[in-house]
Amino acid sequence: MPKRLAILLSGRGSNFAAIHDAILRGELDAEIALVISNRASAAGLEDAERRGLATAVIPHREFPSREAHEEAIAASIERSGSDIVALAGYMRLLSASFIERFSGRVLNIHPSLLPAFPGTDAQAQALAHGVKVSGCTVHLVDATLDGGPILVQRAVPVRDDDTPDTLAARILVEEHHAYVEALRIIVSGDYRVVGRRVVVGGRGSSAPRS
Ligand code: GRF
Repeated sequence: MPKRLAILLSGRGSNFAAIHDAILRGELDAEIALVISNRASAAGLEDAERRGLATAVIPHREFPSREAHEEAIAASIERSGSDIVALAGYMRLLSASFIERFSGRVLNIHPSLLPAFPGTDAQAQALAHGVKVSGCTVHLVDATLDGGPILVQRAVPVRDDDTPDTLAARILVEEHHAYVEALRIIVSGDYRVVGRRVVVGGRGSSAPRS
């Protein structure tokens, strides 16, 4: 049975689209059970509807507290029977109790080579710092901001004439590959988290002889 994904997004949704395209091409053995947005106007939500996927709008403003909003999201993820939660441009912080509930099954993508430049405006932070290489990171989500164990990173050069937008566009191309690659690792189940490190592969290898 293919693993079921819940995607959380707040905006454009190009990472979501790249994931769905990879599934349609047979490059990722998974299915998208639900696309959730906290913003009714998110372009990614409209795209998901066009693609015939199940969608849910759960606006944070309609809930009295962060806890109540997250509870609604968690309940809808659970109802969808999703195994994995992929944050794809979801612009709200998730609390430790939400992360705990889906422990080890929540992924996020960030447009920098973490641990450099966590938080917002990562591409502008990279330019301001003067780095020569930046990129993207897909990681497991823990209670820290952009701080969980790293699954996949891809690098791009930073050019002298880059603006935040040109750098973001170059990184975005790599994000679309990186997210699919990371999800392939997760759905395969062929990895171990050792401290902060995600060690991929090893299943099927013979046990060392004593
Ligand atoms: C991406 O740059 C991602 O790294 C960041 O938010 C942006 C989302 O883009 N977390 P999109 O909505 O997937 O096009």
